[in-house]
Amino acid sequence: MTVDTLATLPKAELHLHIEGTLEPDLALELARRNSVDLPWTDLRTLSRQYQFDDLQSFLDLYYQLMAVLRTSDDFRDLMLAYLGRAARDGVLHSEIFFDPQVHMRNGLSIDTVMDGLLDGMRIGRERWGISSSLILCIVRDLPVESAQSTLDAVEHRVADLVGIGLDSAEVGYPPSLFAEVFDRAARMGLHRVAHAGEEGPSSYVSEALDLLHVERIDHGVHSADDPSLVKRLASENIPLTMCPLSNVRLHVVPEVRDLPIPSLLEAGVRVTVSSDDPAYFGGYIADNYRALRKAGLSLASLASIARNSIEASFVDAEDRARMLELHDSWKRRMEDGEKSERGNA
Ligand code: ADE
Ligand code: ZN
Repeated sequence: MTVDTLATLPKAELHLHIEGTLEPDLALELARRNSVDLPWTDLRTLSRQYQFDDLQSFLDLYYQLMAVLRTSDDFRDLMLAYLGRAARDGVLHSEIFFDPQVHMRNGLSIDTVMDGLLDGMRIGRERWGISSSLILCIVRDLPVESAQSTLDAVEHRVADLVGIGLDSAEVGYPPSLFAEVFDRAARMGLHRVAHAGEEGPSSYVSEALDLLHVERIDHGVHSADDPSLVKRLASENIPLTMCPLSNVRLHVVPEVRDLPIPSLLEAGVRVTVSSDDPAYFGGYIADNYRALRKAGLSLASLASIARNSIEASFVDAEDRARMLELHDSWKRRMEDGEKSERGNA
């Protein structure tokens, strides 16, 4: 197996914040283009800020840099940079979070943001054949009324979204706060997902399932602390979108090998892998797969994680079948290659 094997493995990315793909050089370029003052004006000093103690210390930088995004063209360029990179990593389809409350607080309209993102998604599909959809993320440490007014603002173009999510500072902001918001989103026809069990306890994962009726859990690392919850995730077929490099950089776990991924897979939980905020955490999706390989996961486990990601995506049955076929033919090619290597030995 070469390093590139994992970049050719057909997969879906289900946990990706588009603002978290803002590379430091693009942030500086946009700051200049849009005359936005940042405390850092060169790459060397900005790059020194990328050491994080925890989720909050990352969020402080992430929200600060978001201020450079001002126009639809900025959002289109950001999306195109990400989709080109993801396509090179074997991503066939990506479900992409964005944080409209922060952009609206920065004085932008929801249409400026969404028009740019959707334009990038259309061009990305034409250029690289990669499909994508948008998940509006609710920033859980802003007031619940702000979440409701964000839903008011997108109501006229809900068809441009596939789902609603819940992100930002977790501890102290339990899922229960957003039960009404998620009920309303469900009535608007949106799929539901939530970050839970990243820094917060396993009870937040249960709450997200019971009160928000989410269909996937983002991260869910701390689910592993509760054996009955692990059984429930497996029996109810709830996917986890796990992000190994993010969890190490934010000190959720000391090392990739400390993640409970092997035991969750063993218990029958549908684990998937994504990159979260790749510009901040030192790697895009194939780097996350490579980190797991280095930590001891077999190629077969990584192939089933990739298959899970396609199965857990919110695409229609026809697209899912097409992607699963690409995945399965990759697997057959790998197995044939291994057989002929053994035959030659
Ligand atoms: N927003 C962007 N990345 C996030 C993460 N890893 N956890 C919570 N909120 C986020
Ligand atoms: Zn995330």
